[in-house]
Amino acid sequence: MPANQRIVITGVSRGLGRAMAEAMTAQGQTVAGCARSRQSVTDLSARFASPHAFSALDVCDDGQVADWARRLLSDFGPPDLLVNNAAVINQNARLWEVPAGEVSQVVDVNIKGVVNVIRHLVPAMVDRNRGVIVNLSSGWGRSTSPEVAPYCTTKWAIEGLTRALAQELPNGMAAVPLNPGIIDTDMLRSSFGESARSYPSPETWAKRAVPFLLGLGPKDNGKPLTVPGIPTE
Ligand SMILES: NC(=O)c1ccc[n+]([C@@H]2O[C@H](COP(=O)([O-])OP(=O)(O)OC[C@H]3O[C@@H](n4cnc5c(N)ncnc54)[C@H](OP(=O)(O)O)[C@@H]3O)[C@@H](O)[C@H]2O)c1
Repeated sequence: MPANQRIVITGVSRGLGRAMAEAMTAQGQTVAGCARSRQSVTDLSARFASPHAFSALDVCDDGQVADWARRLLSDFGPPDLLVNNAAVINQNARLWEVPAGEVSQVVDVNIKGVVNVIRHLVPAMVDRNRGVIVNLSSGWGRSTSPEVAPYCTTKWAIEGLTRALAQELPNGMAAVPLNPGIIDTDMLRSSFGESARSYPSPETWAKRAVPFLLGLGPKDNGKPLTVPGIPTE
């Protein structure tokens, strides 16, 4: 993908989203991102001025996503690449021990949040018949482990949701469920504890992932993909 493409990334305050945003801006892409943390969004806005754009919002809130998408489409235009990265994981626990509110939160962010973003940004991409939608899946979207059943549920859903979406898009577009591999982020520390430190940093991951993401196109539509060169177990 040439420089100066318009890239939208959810969940840019830390972890993989932040590493992608930093690597992509460094490469000359124009990045718009969101996260709930106002402080992180303010920091990103100070470091990466317009035409980059960072907003504080919760992807679970369809009204907030609608307002954000309206502003983005008017100031920035339809994205060439949309990366639905924002997600949460349940605290390690057997399924019957996970409180109802926590199950709802994982489902609301990881599934309904992704659909909210798709609902408000993808019609403009379809009108242009152009653009790639990448929905972050997981190894736990293709296999399972104990104590992360709610998270596994949502990532298996992302695989199905994305492949069905791929069948709805016009020929010039693509939707891809992407397993990023295993990376040392806050999310990984929640489930792996101290052993998370033996996995690559988000910055190391982004060196592999960003060229891979920027190389995706209509040929990849509907294919469950994995970022190459990153541990998957
Ligand atoms: N790390 C791994 O090894 C790994 C493996 C497989 C899959 N993944 C997937 O990769 C993606 C990134 O994970 P990560 O490890 O980077 O996680 P992370 O470090 O926990 O970061 C998650 C990001 O999502 C944002 N976010 C969470 N809820 C949100 C909401 N309701 N609205 C807007 N933003 C929200 C967070 O920002 P705020 O808290 O500021 O909102 C944060 O920026 C996720 O989809 C995850 O499932 C990660």
